[in-house]
Amino acid sequence: MALERTFSIIKPDATKRNLTGAIVKKFEDAGLRVVASKRIHLTMAQAGEFYAVHKERPFYGELCEFMASAPIVAQVLEGENAIAKNREVMGATNPADAEAGTIRAEFAQSVGENSVHGSDAPETAAIEIAYFFSGLELVG
Ligand code: CDP
Ligand code: MG
Repeated sequence: MALERTFSIIKPDATKRNLTGAIVKKFEDAGLRVVASKRIHLTMAQAGEFYAVHKERPFYGELCEFMASAPIVAQVLEGENAIAKNREVMGATNPADAEAGTIRAEFAQSVGENSVHGSDAPETAAIEIAYFFSGLELVG
């Protein structure tokens, strides 16, 4: 299996609680390498564009406000089967359903404030990586 890249966000609820390092440790312990990383504070417009796929969902407005409420850490993770592996390490969207030991089981505060984002497919990973990083910023 070839190396794959996926896009990750450490969300505002986690950066505010100083959980960046603890979350990155989960990625690295699972064999995922951080090949790009930056801490930024999204505007409402940027959060809205990133989550445009959820525009029609009832939680869209609240989600955008949350994502623009404090800094995030945007990262590209690389490894074998990185997209699926990252989703596994993250755990289910709703922390109440997340398996023990996953990031969301340990750190998430609610279904909305659930500490991490991770791409769900190769197509979305490519779009999301390109939204946040230039090729020069990806250092494998
Ligand atoms: O992040 P994930 O791919 O697991 O879930 P999603 O279905 O793509 O939803 C994107 C994000 O919207 C979630 O991570 C939550 O932050 C938020 N959300 C929410 O606030 N309420 C829901 N019922 C579902 C999702
Ligand atoms: Mg998703």
